[in-house]
Amino acid sequence: MDRSDTSSIEARCRWAGWQDKRRTAEQAAALIEDGMTVGMSGFTRAGEAKEVPHALAERAARSPLSITLMTGASLGNDLDKVLTDAKVLSRRMPFQVDATLRRAINAGEVMFIDQHLSETVELLRNRQLAEIDVAVVEACAITEEGGIVPTSSVGNSASYAILADKVIIELNLDAPAELEGLHDIYIPQMRPTRTPIPVVAPDSRIGTPYIPIDPQKIAAIVVTKGKDSPSTVLPPDVDTQRIADHLISFFSDEVSIGRLTPSLLPLQAGIGTMANAVMSGLAEGPFEHLTMYSEVLQDSTFDLLDSGKLDYASGCSITLSEACGERVWPRLDDYRDRLILRPQELSNHPGIVRRLGIIAINTALEVDIYGNVNSTHVGGTKMMNGIGGSGDFARNAQLSIFVTKSVAKGGDLSSVVPFASHVDHTEHDVDILVTEHGLADLRGLAPRERAVRVIEQCADPLYRPALRRYFEEACRRGGHTPHCLEQALSWHMAVERDGHMRSLQEEKVDALSA
Ligand code: COA
Repeated sequence: MDRSDTSSIEARCRWAGWQDKRRTAEQAAALIEDGMTVGMSGFTRAGEAKEVPHALAERAARSPLSITLMTGASLGNDLDKVLTDAKVLSRRMPFQVDATLRRAINAGEVMFIDQHLSETVELLRNRQLAEIDVAVVEACAITEEGGIVPTSSVGNSASYAILADKVIIELNLDAPAELEGLHDIYIPQMRPTRTPIPVVAPDSRIGTPYIPIDPQKIAAIVVTKGKDSPSTVLPPDVDTQRIADHLISFFSDEVSIGRLTPSLLPLQAGIGTMANAVMSGLAEGPFEHLTMYSEVLQDSTFDLLDSGKLDYASGCSITLSEACGERVWPRLDDYRDRLILRPQELSNHPGIVRRLGIIAINTALEVDIYGNVNSTHVGGTKMMNGIGGSGDFARNAQLSIFVTKSVAKGGDLSSVVPFASHVDHTEHDVDILVTEHGLADLRGLAPRERAVRVIEQCADPLYRPALRRYFEEACRRGGHTPHCLEQALSWHMAVERDGHMRSLQEEKVDALSA
């Protein structure tokens, strides 16, 4: 048996019982029955099962079935599309980013449960959600004891495998064998006798490098090949670069005032282009010995590690562009002492976020003049992706920052509105708002003070006059958080009526004061 050749099954699968459990994807998918609850690996397009879900969709085409599907977060390789098209999904949680699934959710065909990402397995453990029948987890190795070594994400895989009745392991021979050793699996104890989780720094290792399960539960091992989908993050454009520049100069000022040191505090950056641009911007400026305690580790994490600016990064998944992946995956050993992948309930744990004093940078779809943030719903009704981990971090961070472009859809929509059409993060959870026009530092300000900052620093100049008029009229009417209630949603109603908010740029809003 050649264990030095890591592409061989024997080298990857050290558990003696594996041959008895080896199955095809179709045989493994047959273990999933109509009405079951299934927990799958996968987080921000990283580490999802590559074959069993496809086999399930193909079976559903012949013989309809539907399941509740739980994952870590979004799936790659169009899996949510494939499963939605095959009508396999009746319920889906806790996050998704797929256009086809989004349409089905908004048509009421799939019941989507939009959860804080740290919370799903806590709810499962406490039996507040339907119990997991089958877990499907991608692995890069199986240990002598039957422990599962995950691939590019941990997500919720550990708890799904531990709590499920049956476990299907997809052993992916294309996943780098060097991933083994990066993971740190720790499961909080049951309440009410839980002891403190001993993460005291981003590099705290407190668990095992594999998911420990009872090997009796391994129902199938499917040997696969296949890569994660590359990230869809775009390079910075003029606006995202301006947002990054505002934040970098804010951090520099905080350092010169002495409120932060040049190593700042552990950084969390949300998904997407903007957060990635901000992180990349940290390569410039007076920063050194940075650390990350985040959810997804994107290209910018590895750029900063390579530049020597970032000492350590903790996350629950690695999602890279094609170009960055080509650079990073063959050199994983170079990062071994500076990387850790944890379960998402630990990477996003509110208590740890509060303990470490994290700087959280997340993206808003829309903000209101008082700093309430909508991250999830277009026009107050249509789901975009989900709250993800933004709430886990925003509520508990030392500095809670939200970034957004000031307008969307080519200027048809203002991202700063009088009244957010949906609120995921209340004003109490938002310290700093940034758009390409400027940064509003809202710390220690009352609502009337916050509104002035948000309008003057963050709104697009074309929409500022209408926002000012709304706020002035609201202040005349009075209140701690002044509003003209009959006008509060008028900006969103304009979109329903006209498809844009441009009329608000032109109106002298005489109607408001009439
Ligand atoms: N009203 C309506 N649509 C808006 C909008 C607004 N005010 N602002 C942006 N949009 C649209 C954009 O036009 C774009 O649409 P398109 O895909 O049809 O082009 C889409 O929303 C995405 O906007 P974009 O500016 O490209 O930002 P993004 O890709 O960075 O995504 C969020 C922004 C908010 C959707 C995304 O960050 C998200 O899902 N956040 C919630 C989860 C989260 O924060 N997770 C991180 C925790 S670690």
